[in-house]
Amino acid sequence: MVNILTGDRPTGCLHLGHYVGSLQTRITLQKEIKLSNKEYKYVGPLQNRLETQINNKEYKCYILLADTQGLTDNFANLHIIKNNIIEILKDYIAVGIDPETWCIFAQSKIHELFELTIYLMNLATFNNLSRIPTLKVEIQQKGFDNSIPMGFLNYPISQAADILLFHANLVPAGEDQSCLIEFANELAQKYNNLYCKNFQRFEKIKMILSNTPKLIGIDGKLKASKTLNNAILLSDCAKTVQKKVQMMYTDPNHILISDPGQVEGNVVFSYLDAFYKDKEHLDSLKEHYKKGGLGDSEVKKLLQNTLNNFLDPIREKRSNLHNDDLMQILENGTKNAKKIAEQNIANIRKDLMLNYL
Ligand code: TRP
Repeated sequence: MVNILTGDRPTGCLHLGHYVGSLQTRITLQKEIKLSNKEYKYVGPLQNRLETQINNKEYKCYILLADTQGLTDNFANLHIIKNNIIEILKDYIAVGIDPETWCIFAQSKIHELFELTIYLMNLATFNNLSRIPTLKVEIQQKGFDNSIPMGFLNYPISQAADILLFHANLVPAGEDQSCLIEFANELAQKYNNLYCKNFQRFEKIKMILSNTPKLIGIDGKLKASKTLNNAILLSDCAKTVQKKVQMMYTDPNHILISDPGQVEGNVVFSYLDAFYKDKEHLDSLKEHYKKGGLGDSEVKKLLQNTLNNFLDPIREKRSNLHNDDLMQILENGTKNAKKIAEQNIANIRKDLMLNYL
């Protein structure tokens, strides 16, 4: 059985970084799964990695709306989570995620997750947690340095519970999540060794990284992030996209059009790499830019058009969605996830000898 699980903190609308880092993989998986019952096979960039894992198997796919995890750094800004649940649901459906394939559910409604989190907390030490690179970066970014809230420090354990409760063995996610998956694997191993002497309750979790696991921010400094305000949102209008592309960091030494320019670290080219389909043309543009004679404004124009062409159908679909229907999708998904969570936690209670009443 293949269980695919991924999730998003509803702390802002999704952006192009989410698209290339994770949403695109979900859509590819979805196609792969739909076609795996038929003779025809999907041929795409992720084909080799996914085919062996998907073909001839039963699978279940989950997307967890990590509202409880979102509270760990927004416990004083509750409206952020509340307002973004619906926005993220819109983003999902607008980019083509099919709620028939994916069970989309709200983390806060699955209390079994919190029970498992408590059990897993016994298997990790303070030092294990404080060594997780992604957590370290976030602690710095959020200014928690000397006063880390316990909820935030603990979120990798809660994320491990998200994955393990649903026995997920494939997790499509961005590069920054890889240390969290590794941590979840360590907890799973410890659990198996301690409580399941003669069998393995939890299988190894594999991660699926996309072809572009990290998209740089428009300022060229860090990864694209809503919090850092350096991302292009899937819900941005054409004018905003135009403005953001105008602001993009290029090569500061490329002053005159005739100057030779740098392509590495040049945000415009990174985005073209991720979104412009005609790779041959892109290579020739890069050569031209490196030699000199190609202006930033021309490359930016191409990027604006590329991104707006990509986003147009997403915007259109987004504007036709109704909140009630989206909430219904979440409610149905949550009901389904709850049934599975109840079955699985019963086995975990048995492992822990807590099924005596
Ligand atoms: N940490 C993820 C994020 O910041 C959200 C998340 C919560 C998640 N639980 C998960 C991702 C389980 C993958 C698997 O967006």
